[in-house]
Amino acid sequence: MELGMIGLGRMGGNMVLRLLRGGHAPVVYDRDPATVARHVEAGARGAASPADLVEQLRAPRAVWMMVPAGPPVEETIEALLPHLAPDDIVIDGGNSHFKDSSRRAEALRAKGIHYLDAGTSGGIWGLEEGYCLMVGGEKAAFDRIEPVLRTLAPEDGYLHTGRSGSGHFTKMVHNGIEYGLMQAYAEGFEILNASGLDLDLARIARLWNRGSVVRSWLLELTQAALEKDPRLQGIEGYVEDSGEGRWTVLQALDSEVPAPLIALSLMERFRSRQAESFGNKLLTALRREFGGHAVRTRSG
Ligand SMILES: NC(=O)c1ccc[n+]([C@@H]2O[C@H](COP(=O)([O-])OP(=O)(O)OC[C@H]3O[C@@H](n4cnc5c(N)ncnc54)[C@H](OP(=O)(O)O)[C@@H]3O)[C@@H](O)[C@H]2O)c1
Repeated sequence: MELGMIGLGRMGGNMVLRLLRGGHAPVVYDRDPATVARHVEAGARGAASPADLVEQLRAPRAVWMMVPAGPPVEETIEALLPHLAPDDIVIDGGNSHFKDSSRRAEALRAKGIHYLDAGTSGGIWGLEEGYCLMVGGEKAAFDRIEPVLRTLAPEDGYLHTGRSGSGHFTKMVHNGIEYGLMQAYAEGFEILNASGLDLDLARIARLWNRGSVVRSWLLELTQAALEKDPRLQGIEGYVEDSGEGRWTVLQALDSEVPAPLIALSLMERFRSRQAESFGNKLLTALRREFGGHAVRTRSG
């Protein structure tokens, strides 16, 4: 099927390649013309602007955005809107906040345009393994793009989650769970690493991936990372977050659902970015104040 793809980064670029392999006809646009040219070489039709992309698609069209959440999504919709017609479908495959997606769906519905929020998981492995797709919005629009979803996903790897916003809501919680799982592995392997037993961490990860209760794809990635660099000496432990963990915690607060593990995982990421903790300095100062305990001081 014909599909417009805007944003040919790590995700959108590979998704186009998977669509081409599946016999689809993507028309692609990226801010970088060289990136567009690379995908044209791979078999896609290239567009010079969002307007040109819309122009090249037969109506009713489907345009998939794979750009970062926030202003990039807003700007892309603004660039598309004057050129779209009623019954066209716009799909946001990035990690937008579900409330933004509901709002955008409502605004586009007023113009007769359908909007789907397609939470997408799979990272750079999606090209070979397929992408897990959680899609919110009108069922009729979902049905229309189903051939594309079937190609992008592994078998049984896509779902109509319900009304607008539900796809991105589901993806948000998915990513919150990911924070917790990753934190548990990180803590376990840190204890193994500090054991003094000179344990082969990569082999333990490999072993646990063979039938153990904690086997998982994240543990396979743990194994791969430890095989490359057994003590992770080339890596600084500075952990970024891209928003979905925070949103999951805020959602838990809003609905008064206890989510201590996900919340702590997020806090640990914040802690990882501190070269020095003011809080820890205060703890030390307080121990000196009430108990006269020794304090290590800094010279110079
Ligand atoms: N990477 C993952 O593992 C993963 C997994 C699931 C979901 N996601 C989500 O998928 C979306 C894309 O992620 P990605 O990893 O593919 O990001 P990426 O590699 O950084 O690619 C983003 C693409 O969007 C373009 N872009 C950025 N700002 C734009 C703007 N204002 N207008 C138009 N295009 C713009 C970028 O162009 P430039 O190169 O010119 O900046 C680039 O082509 C994000 O929402 C991300 O959270 C990512």
